Amino acid sequence: MERRRFAASLLSLPAATDAKLPGLPPASLADSDPDKYWARIREDQFFLAKSRIFLNNGSLGVAPRATLAAVSAYLQKAASMEMGGYEYPRWGYESLDAHRGDLAAFLGCRPEDLALTHNATEALSTIAAGLDLKSGDEVVMTDQEHASGKAGWHIRAARHGIAVREVPIPLPPPAPAELADRMISAIGPRTRVLFFSAITTTTGLILPVKEICAAARSKGVITVVDGAHVHGQVPLRIDSLDCDYFAGSPHKWMFAPAGCGFLWGRQEMLDRLWPAVATGNWDNHKLHAARFMLMGTNNRAIFEGLIAGLRFGNQIGWDRIYRRTHDLARRARAQAEKLGYLPLVTPDNDAQYGSLVTFGLGPVDRAKLFAECDRRRIWTLRAQRMRLSAHIHTRPSDLDAFFDAVEQVRRRG
Ligand SMILES: Cc1ncc(COP(=O)(O)O)c(C=O)c1O
Repeated sequence: MERRRFAASLLSLPAATDAKLPGLPPASLADSDPDKYWARIREDQFFLAKSRIFLNNGSLGVAPRATLAAVSAYLQKAASMEMGGYEYPRWGYESLDAHRGDLAAFLGCRPEDLALTHNATEALSTIAAGLDLKSGDEVVMTDQEHASGKAGWHIRAARHGIAVREVPIPLPPPAPAELADRMISAIGPRTRVLFFSAITTTTGLILPVKEICAAARSKGVITVVDGAHVHGQVPLRIDSLDCDYFAGSPHKWMFAPAGCGFLWGRQEMLDRLWPAVATGNWDNHKLHAARFMLMGTNNRAIFEGLIAGLRFGNQIGWDRIYRRTHDLARRARAQAEKLGYLPLVTPDNDAQYGSLVTFGLGPVDRAKLFAECDRRRIWTLRAQRMRLSAHIHTRPSDLDAFFDAVEQVRRRG
């Protein structure tokens, strides 16, 4: 009760820094002149330098002013030792009921099934380390998983003799029904866990999560979804998915500061999970998901920033955000296609991608392209393929500049 009051008091932290925050442009401008509306959002709400072209939100997003103001306000308040109610943020991971409530409303789940973590890696590692699996049990995953998703299972393979098998996803990818079929038909007699990304890191492909999870459930196989790229990029309610565990990464697309993740589990599955990091109360199952927030001393200000970022998105309207970012991604895909020499990985199906577009570089020299990007202050992910991310601060001219750089490097040879 006391904690709850404490949490509530913090959510109404003094508006000292808020007062300096610029307001949003009128929503009517988003309809009448969308590029102007979003340009004003970028200029007023972010610290992004005008000359910086940032196309790598998929690795880590950019926190807006509102998020940073909340982090800073909390740190200042904590340093004043005048928190009120609960004297001072000793641990920082207190059950954070109000925060989890706000986040759960957005994610579409129950707050008690949600643990705040520091990133998706922590959540995914906790799941992989915490399930009872024995030698010979098999974990099946796609061949497009992030290292942070794969590594926990590989540790179990090295340590406990479990088997890990990858299912190849063809590129460019087939239609959702065939993707679901590939994953479901890969389930074998020893498969205990099906692990996959809802949106793949390398290609930005949206997988048919619901269909895969429902089929796995009917075969008694546990599903673990790496949802690092989901929330803030596409609308998706966790409670509509039928999965057993879900890990998220709000510092990518949800305007959260770096250091924000979450772990969700179906209640009975949380009960089956052993904590990876432990202190007192590790076995108090009455805490439900909060059992996985017992992390030791923490930077609580980060979670204040998470909620401020969520509210910033709420204020703009998430549907408006999804429309804009997908429109930009579609534009990037069309630009790549128009050049005619970039092998596209992102399929021409709006249901299969959100704000990430991926393609090969074909005849374009990678090193020279990156040097040209550096010269133009363009920042993209520098992986095997090119993956562009669009968020609300992305300007259409940013995409033009990138494709102009590609074309220039190709022409120069
Ligand atoms: C699919 C996927 N899973 C997990 C991660 C790791 O996320 P975090 O940095 O939040 O731990 C990433 C990061 O890029 C990712 O793309």
